[in-house]
Formats: sequence, C-alpha cells, structure tokens
Amino acid sequence: MKGLFKNYKRLNLKNRFVMAPMTRCLCDRKGMPSRKLENYYLRRARLGFGLIVVESAAVNPYDAMGYMNGLQFHSKKHLKYWKGLIKKIKKNRTKVIIQLFHAGRLTVKKISKTTLAPSSLKPFNQSSFWRPNYKNSIVHFQTKTKFGKPKKISINQADTILNQFEKSCEYAMQAGFDGVEIHGAHGYLIHSFNSKETNKRLDKLKAHNFQFSIDLVKRCKKIIKDKILSYRLSIHMVDNSYIKYSSRNYDIPKLVRKLDQYGVNVFHCSELKAGTELFDSKKTLTQIVRAVTKKTIISCGNVLEGKQIKKIFKLGSNLIAFGRMSMVYPDLVLRFKNKKKINKRFTYDKWQKYN
Ligand SMILES: Cc1cc2nc3c(=O)[nH]c(=O)nc-3n(C[C@H](O)[C@H](O)[C@H](O)COP(=O)(O)O)c2cc1C
Repeated sequence: MKGLFKNYKRLNLKNRFVMAPMTRCLCDRKGMPSRKLENYYLRRARLGFGLIVVESAAVNPYDAMGYMNGLQFHSKKHLKYWKGLIKKIKKNRTKVIIQLFHAGRLTVKKISKTTLAPSSLKPFNQSSFWRPNYKNSIVHFQTKTKFGKPKKISINQADTILNQFEKSCEYAMQAGFDGVEIHGAHGYLIHSFNSKETNKRLDKLKAHNFQFSIDLVKRCKKIIKDKILSYRLSIHMVDNSYIKYSSRNYDIPKLVRKLDQYGVNVFHCSELKAGTELFDSKKTLTQIVRAVTKKTIISCGNVLEGKQIKKIFKLGSNLIAFGRMSMVYPDLVLRFKNKKKINKRFTYDKWQKYN
C-alpha cells in the first residue's frame, strides 16, 4: 500500500495513483464535455491522483464513436476547451493524458454512420453491462439496437484513420496534455486488428504483422516526442470477457516488443483482476508485458486491497490505475492514506450519478 504514495520519477508523478479512463457519456452531441464532467476530472485532480487518463475520445464523428454523448477530440473547438481545463488540472501537480479511440466493430448505426473493422465479422454474442441481453438479442446499452456486421476496412480507410489519430495527437499537444494513450484494448478497432480472432486478413494489415498499431505509434511518436505515449492493451474484449489468452491468436510479446521499439513509453495493462492469473493462464497480463519490456507499466482491474497491490508491484508494475473505485470515491487517495473505510462491494448500476 505504501508503494502507492511514492513518487514516480521516470514520469515525474507525485504518486502512483492513476485514474483509469472511463467513458461517462456526459458530453453533448459534438463530444464537448458538460460542466458535470469538467468537475468530475477537476475534483479527482484536487483530491490527489498523480495521473489522470481522460476517457476514450473518438478521433472522428463518423465511424469512431462507440457511445452516445461520448467524448470526442478532433477539432480546434475541442482543443480550445481542453486547454482551459488542463490548466486547472495541472495546478494540482497532476499529470493528464487523453485516451484516443476508435470503436471499430463495437458500435451501432444510431451512433456511428459506418461500422468499420479489419474483417467483416459480427461481434461475439456475449452480453455484458455495455451489451445487455434485451428481448433475446445482444444490444447496445444506450440505443437498445443490435450490433450489425461491420464493413471490411480498406487500406485507404485505414490510412485516413491513422491521419485522424495523428491530427488528434497534434491537438492534444497544443492543448497542453502531458501525452496521449492509444486505446488498443477491449476489442475496439486497434485491438481487433491485432487478434486473429477478429482479423482474418491476408494483406499487410493481417493480425500478426501489427502494421496498424506500428504505423499508429510511429505517427503519434513523431508528434508526442518525449511526452507520455501510452498504449492500453487487454486480453479481454467488451464482447468476449472470458477469452483465453493464446499467443497463437494474439502474440502480445511480439506486439509489445515492436511498440517498445517504435516509442511507446507506457504500457497500460487492463486486466479483469490485476495480479491474478485467469482462465488457465500461467501469467497475468502485467507479467506477460513485463517479460519483454523495461518501460513503465500501469496495471488496472479490480484492484481493491493492499495485499493485491503489493503483488502487482512485485510482478513488475510501476503504477496502479483505479477505475470504478475512483468514480465512486473521488477522494480515494486520501481514503487509502487515512485508512478510511472503502466499501469494496459497491455496485455501479447507477454509475452515471457519480460526480
Ligand atoms: C463506466 C466505465 C467506463 C469505462 N470506459 C473506458 C474507456 O473509456 N476506456 C478504457 O480503456 N476503459 C474503460 N473502462 C474500463 C476501465 O478503465 C477499467 O479497466 C475497468 O473498469 C476495470 O477496472 P476497475 O475494476 O478498477 O473498475 C470503463 C469502465 C467503466 C466502469
């Protein structure tokens, strides 16, 4: 537990508490944050988080959005807005990066005009909070409409999306973010390019070439330079939580080695339960990643207590990200510090009310 309060010199962080990215659906239709969302971030900065990863922000309004009223970050208007907020956040010596996002196949027509994916494969048929079972079909939790078959992305379309990420990086730097995080997790576009389960292509964008991720990292690195370039990855997908890890389907060590080589300086491991080997796996995601890189690792996923935190650090992680705990308890850092009661069995069915 004490380890969380140590500063982290490599990224110049005052402590090792990271606020995980969480889509709150508190923006207007153009992806501009509401006052409530602004206060939500400010409050957590004031209450001590060392690093805030701002929730997934769509890089275009056409095919990148996964959620209604989700954040977007692709225009000068977005840049100008965040410039103001970042200044206030930084007064607290909190660093802040923004997670850039493309939903890929995990969106519906009512939200994104077009649904694009490496291969024209419908999402898996597994329900979750985001994809409830409604009248015997898996639907989007907001629209209650079914997920369709995505269009296979063309090389040109892939290039357009890379340009959009690049532009968003430029805006992020101009706004004053300390870096960006590429959302390469949870089955969205980038993750779906990297796994053979969701990418059946045979061209240069085939799964284990990792070409899309590599090009993306190269382009972002040119702009980000020595600021934080984080890459979030997971084994699980929003439409397939219990997927077993198999390096034959998703060669994480090879991916991480490549991304390390091209300039990622933080790997953000999103796990179902950090510090625990799941589904017959011999290693946790943090261990798999640590075995092949010396860069900074953030671990996230159901982190609730001291013993677990100690174990995660021992496995090679440097920083711990808290998701729902940071949403329910804006003062989580102080609660840990003062050994105040934390209800670990909270439900988050009313998550939109937390501010
Ligand atoms: C409401 C909600 C929104 C989320 N949105 C995102 C997101 O925008 N980007 C992302 O990478 N993960 C997202 N996640 C996943 C969290 O970052 C985190 O990985 C997950 O909640 C597990 O950590 P926890 O047990 O500490 O909550 C979201 C989770 C929740 C509960």
